[in-house]
Amino acid sequence: MMQFPRDFLWGVATSSYQIEGAARADGRGESIWDRFSHTPGLVENGDTGDVACDHYNRYRDDIDLMASLGVQAYRFSVAWPRILPEGTGAVNAKGLDFYKRLVDGLLAKGIKPAITLYHWDLPQALQDRGGWANRDTAFRFAEYADHLYRALGDQVPIWMTINEPWVAGFLGHWWGVHAPGLKDLRTSLAAIHHMFLGHGLAVRQFRQLGLPGQVGIAPNLFPTYPETDSPADQAAARLSDGFTNRWFLDPVLRGSYPQDMVDLYTDRVGALDFIHDDDLPLIASPIDFLGVNFYERRIIGAEPLHDLGWKVVHPPVSNGIPRTDLGWEIVPWCLTDLLKRLKADYGDVPIYITENGAHFTDGPGADGQVHDVRRVAFLQGHFAAAHRAIAAGVNLKGYFCWSFMDNFEWAMGYSKRFGLIYVDYPTQRRIPKDSAFFLRDVIRYGLNL
Ligand code: FCB
Repeated sequence: MMQFPRDFLWGVATSSYQIEGAARADGRGESIWDRFSHTPGLVENGDTGDVACDHYNRYRDDIDLMASLGVQAYRFSVAWPRILPEGTGAVNAKGLDFYKRLVDGLLAKGIKPAITLYHWDLPQALQDRGGWANRDTAFRFAEYADHLYRALGDQVPIWMTINEPWVAGFLGHWWGVHAPGLKDLRTSLAAIHHMFLGHGLAVRQFRQLGLPGQVGIAPNLFPTYPETDSPADQAAARLSDGFTNRWFLDPVLRGSYPQDMVDLYTDRVGALDFIHDDDLPLIASPIDFLGVNFYERRIIGAEPLHDLGWKVVHPPVSNGIPRTDLGWEIVPWCLTDLLKRLKADYGDVPIYITENGAHFTDGPGADGQVHDVRRVAFLQGHFAAAHRAIAAGVNLKGYFCWSFMDNFEWAMGYSKRFGLIYVDYPTQRRIPKDSAFFLRDVIRYGLNL
């Protein structure tokens, strides 16, 4: 039996646009994901978040379900356009009330609320003014954060500013496969910088209000390995690590952007003059914890002619490593590597795994239950990997599984199922999968290996 530290926090995670539905309820404004998903051809099967898991109306039942599993913390995001339908201005009290009821409901069951302020549903009104590519959005974000701090700051112990700036930045503004669907490298770098600026302003405001909780950020990180030991592949892997990891860690934890990447980007898009002199000290305002979203490793080879000078190598399925139903390799030891590396390079900052999980298609069998044995094995492997990191001295404080329930998986719509709970969309029935019971037992008894 592997025991986790007594105060280790076990949680589940979701985000607003992926589960809430009720897209027009109680004065909610339009978000960039409403606009994106309603544009024909951008989301698989034409799916939208209009109804999703109808969590906005079913949150009480969902809290009961969490409580029945013994979940200790729930990471969810607030939809900015529910609070400020136009992105700025007067607070929409009805939208805010939803989150007050949700927080009260969680606390009543002894579940710690963990709020993500931004999980990608930017008010469309702000996008119309340039969105994250516009520096002003960082200041609007800090205003929005301030409203939530004042309303919920004394009740909510864990806050995350921005979810996955790499994904929001590059998938949304360079590759165009996420909202707002733009395709320009320079725009994505500006957008990412302004997300960091918003983060720094929001952390500073958190401190100024003297709130009792903890505040951090939740980047996605990819443990990165060279394809071979050749100097060219190693250099390529180092740069790719800069692209996915160091660019998202150094500003926050060291107060500087990595110089090799500054040089590379400057070469490609011109001077990064959206970075102002005083921004970095603000962005590096001390955080209480680092959130880590982990899904995949990346193997990198040199490829001078490709985009930024490297290529992502997709190992053949014959390498024998099991995969999720999205084809992602299941590589729990890379999580241990990643956590140890964070400690080695960035010091003893407390860490929460704020997301980790897998898509497996399993649905109800003849007995009506969902025997997602591969997800159980996946969780087992990753929990053990987290435990190994703790044993190696990493200051890991908790683990949030992605996701509490099946939901709207962005451009892939409802075709992907990351949940511990199965959602039957036509009836909105929730069926806990075997993995949900597995998590319950790990929380209760520890990890039996
Ligand atoms: C992460 C996102 C989350 C979910 C998982 C599968 O990149 O933060 O919303 O889509 O991937």
